[in-house]
Amino acid sequence: MPAPTYWDYLHLPELLSCQGGLNDSPAPDELHFIIVHQVYELWFKLSLSQLRLARDHLAAPHLPEERVPFVVHHLGRVNSILRLCVDQFAVMETLPPQDFLDFRDKLVPSSGFQSFQMREFEILLGLTAERRIKYAGTDPIEHIRSQTHSPAGRAVADQLLATIAETSLRDALLAWLGRTPIMGSSPGDPDDADVVARFLAEYYARVERHQREGAEQLVKVLGGVDADKIRARVDGALAGVREFLLPEDPLARRARAALVFIESYRHLPLLAWPRLLLDTCVELEEQTVLFRHRHARMVERTIGRRVGSGGSAGVEYLDQTTAYRVFPELWNVRTCLLPRDRIPPISGEETYHFVGG
Ligand code: HEM
Repeated sequence: MPAPTYWDYLHLPELLSCQGGLNDSPAPDELHFIIVHQVYELWFKLSLSQLRLARDHLAAPHLPEERVPFVVHHLGRVNSILRLCVDQFAVMETLPPQDFLDFRDKLVPSSGFQSFQMREFEILLGLTAERRIKYAGTDPIEHIRSQTHSPAGRAVADQLLATIAETSLRDALLAWLGRTPIMGSSPGDPDDADVVARFLAEYYARVERHQREGAEQLVKVLGGVDADKIRARVDGALAGVREFLLPEDPLARRARAALVFIESYRHLPLLAWPRLLLDTCVELEEQTVLFRHRHARMVERTIGRRVGSGGSAGVEYLDQTTAYRVFPELWNVRTCLLPRDRIPPISGEETYHFVGG
């Protein structure tokens, strides 16, 4: 095999011959439009591979401590890419609305709505069909699968079906949380269910005391406020905390106990990386929401509130998608946390130290 040149190794001639649009005579701004989209799709491709690597580590029946940094590493790379993608919409925005109209009509009905890689990304994160917003009664995945006239349509549809059958990052994360030792107790230990139930009940009692004291302090320092309204707001928040910390389902209970535990006792050496992993997942969701939000603002600036080329309600639809949360537990736990000096005393502390450390 001859030594490759830079252009052979990167397949540059092929890569650079894919910007001709539909008839190889793109409008002046069409090159810009095509390249920006292609660059996004390349970033999506890399993000998907990183998500799968992170998921594979997490989904293993046992994740040794020393492998948690690899999960954080792969997800951290996705986060860097997403931050770049959010900023990159500024490049798209150099397309003046009227110049876009010069070639927009010939795109119809093609739209980012058909970005099968974005759908794969959402599915791999853990967005389920039930939670996905439908428009005109059509599920976006079904919409892609219905494009049977496209030569690549079948392969794309099969790829999406195969992705749906994979373990999502969310499922892998919840399973991993479910195995986390709580107060030194692991699943399979004879009294594990009791340890978890006691921990959650005590945590809830402390949160209730803390938040009620906070309400009284607020009433006192604000003076003249409607004290009953503040107390009612705290009652409402506590109902949410109770629902989160004391679920019926034992699997949900264990995973949530682990979340509270890791966030609360993060000073323990073996919980430092798990806490960082949770933070990286929160950032992943945050950047995904920011991506959706930034795309919607760019769209509003370029085409206003007109109907999308994919047939959706355009900006109105895109804004609704910013409400997706794949990891609601990771957000909810924040409402429940206690300051360091109010957390329950730790037991089984030696479980969370390096052996010999
Ligand atoms: C002038 C530029 C753009 C306009 C006017 C635009 C407009 C739209 C609109 C209106 C939709 C909603 C679906 C529809 O009815 O078509 C949509 C969806 C989408 N667009 Fe864009 N877009 C642009 C650029 C981009 C770029 C650069 C990307 C980068 C990949 C992108 C990715 C997406 C994705 C992933 C969706 C699906 C969102 C979802 O269903 O959650 N778009 N776009």
